[in-house]
Amino acid sequence: MRIRKEPTILVIFGGMGDLTWRKLAPALYNLLLDKQLPERFAVIGLDGKALGQDEFRQRLKDGANQFCQCGGVVDENWNSIARNVTFLSGDFADPAIYSDLSDQLKTQGKSWDRPANHVFYLATPPGIVGTIVHGLGVAGLASDRSHARVVVEKPFGHDLASAVALNGVLTAVFNESQIYRIDHYLGKETVQNILAFRFANALFEPIWDRRYIDHVQITVAEQVGVEHRGAYYEHAGALRDMIQNHLMQILCLIAMEPMVSFEADEIRNKKVDVLRAIRPILEDQVQQLAVRGQYGAGRMNGHKVPAYRAEPSVATDSPAETFAAMKLFVDNWRWQDVPFYLRTGKRLQKKLSEVMIQFRPVPHQSFPTTAALAWQPNHLIIHIQPEEGIILRFQAKQPGSILHLSPVDMHFSYQETFKSRSPEAYETLLVDVMAGDATLFMRADQVEGSWSVITPILNVWENTLPVDFPNYLSGTWGPDAAEVLIAQDGRSWQQPTLKKVQAGDQSRSSMVA
Ligand code: BG6
Repeated sequence: MRIRKEPTILVIFGGMGDLTWRKLAPALYNLLLDKQLPERFAVIGLDGKALGQDEFRQRLKDGANQFCQCGGVVDENWNSIARNVTFLSGDFADPAIYSDLSDQLKTQGKSWDRPANHVFYLATPPGIVGTIVHGLGVAGLASDRSHARVVVEKPFGHDLASAVALNGVLTAVFNESQIYRIDHYLGKETVQNILAFRFANALFEPIWDRRYIDHVQITVAEQVGVEHRGAYYEHAGALRDMIQNHLMQILCLIAMEPMVSFEADEIRNKKVDVLRAIRPILEDQVQQLAVRGQYGAGRMNGHKVPAYRAEPSVATDSPAETFAAMKLFVDNWRWQDVPFYLRTGKRLQKKLSEVMIQFRPVPHQSFPTTAALAWQPNHLIIHIQPEEGIILRFQAKQPGSILHLSPVDMHFSYQETFKSRSPEAYETLLVDVMAGDATLFMRADQVEGSWSVITPILNVWENTLPVDFPNYLSGTWGPDAAEVLIAQDGRSWQQPTLKKVQAGDQSRSSMVA
């Protein structure tokens, strides 16, 4: 990404919240260590809680210390951030807080030689976003089109209508070019690498289409349950929480046409083209094309875990889905009739996010059937997490005088190859917003396009209560219906390919059979 380290004041609404503590504070500290923060940099935290400057600084430091994955915060380093941290307490609905903020911004930037970027990060519940945006507008804090930016977290709306309304609220005050809608998956190294892999190499692009690809699977599996977020999740569910944003964005990167240049809008245009080409799902097709599930109790890593309906703040007869799977088609020249299978769920057997591309079989099987008993089509597997890398699976002859073919894997491992820490998604995204690079953020039409795709499923699921919940045990791969969804096409979900690559071994091939 392009980095212009312009003076920046990061204004965090919800300074005492979980996101600031767990994600933003550690990201800022790591950026400091990596020398990615501008020389002139300040943080202003705002929150409804009344507390002193030192308490706020301590809260940020605690977050950085606990979550930075850097082995703890060193005081001397932290102090170079902390000395430019201030806190304002107040009600976000009260105009006074915006005039205090305005004064503070002026004071902070006074000694700097150039105008600072003002990044307004809304680390708040979605319900308050409109109020804050309005307050910023009235106070004139959004009017500098090139220096004022607003960062909006997910969930971005609850459905298409609310997303459109929220876009209306934002664009009444900010220009689209000032709005940065976060999907943290786009900040992950391996997700960004999809573009590099596809368009910086000539090898795969010629076969990246319906003539050579049989189907695509996108899996985002989590081991964690709903944790302390029951109240949110009851109104969200897996389709809204994960598919509408993270999985759809991955799908766009896999399916998009090559971009002409690396400009934010060029890349986003290409992604929107994919969303527009997704075949609309009719409500009477939802049953065949989408599956929902909810976890029951079970065992994870040797420990008993409760059912979703026994989690805090969850109704005992909750219809919220903790698992969703669906089949989509992208109706264009490249992808006509190639199915894309998407699945995501909580309390699944492993934490794993990957894209699996299955190529078509060879046109003619010339080997004797006895040689090809374990025959498999070629697979390309892009591991997004936790072991970041790419696997190419192909057939090889097993050693020996009798002809036997076996699938083998060629591995590329990020960690082994680059031997350096991949930045956390929030680090990348903060650097980009400070540099004014919106490539990894979602534009209004992307968000709305994605809501449009899932709206029929939301409608049907809301109007038909599930009768079989809970329908999968914690620690499994989800409900049987998800197997049926893909099996009815004569295919099956990819078995997880997680496998540690040994040090110095990244170019080896290994038997997978
Ligand atoms: C969030 C969802 O957007 O992504 C969570 O709200 C989910 O429910 C999380 O757990 C997963 O993110 P990651 O980076 O851990 O895969």
